[in-house]
Amino acid sequence: MNLHQKHLILLGMMGTGKSTVGKHLAQHLPYPAIDFDHWIEERQNQSIPSIFEQLGESYFRELESQALKHFLKQPQPHILITGGGVILRPENRKRMKKANGVVFHLIADVETLIQRLDLDVNRPLLQGDKAEKIRRIWSERKSLYETIADYRIQTDDRSPEAITTEILSHWH
Ligand code: S3P
Repeated sequence: MNLHQKHLILLGMMGTGKSTVGKHLAQHLPYPAIDFDHWIEERQNQSIPSIFEQLGESYFRELESQALKHFLKQPQPHILITGGGVILRPENRKRMKKANGVVFHLIADVETLIQRLDLDVNRPLLQGDKAEKIRRIWSERKSLYETIADYRIQTDDRSPEAITTEILSHWH
């Protein structure tokens, strides 16, 4: 195995399967996998919806930016499972671009995301008209993801194993 010393960064909209794929990748690569949302929840001892509700989105974005900064600085490679909004802050985009890492952008058609997130209750940004919100968020963020992605990985109608295999084919 080619153990190049880079972080493997998973990027993409809510519902593209970053967490699931990240867990699969961790079974194939000898790096710790860090799911930013889980890391923040543990650190705060609070769920993401309750952080948004009680402390506000910008507080959450601050914690997210701190997580990114902290893990990108680690000399040992990690699998970094980011939250969908990590690309919103210019400083985060700059950091990911400059980082010693490879960025995989997981993508799915908006209709697929709407289906996958249909029953979800854990995404504060999708309260209300979920389909409309997903469409709007994607149109606002699409180009931001693109500016830092090294690889685009299509996830529609594909198993986590197949997606993992594709990512690993670029990695080795
Ligand atoms: C968000 C995505 C979520 C979580 C928070 C905000 C976003 O993570 O960080 O609800 O702004 O896209 P996932 O991408 O893991 O769902």
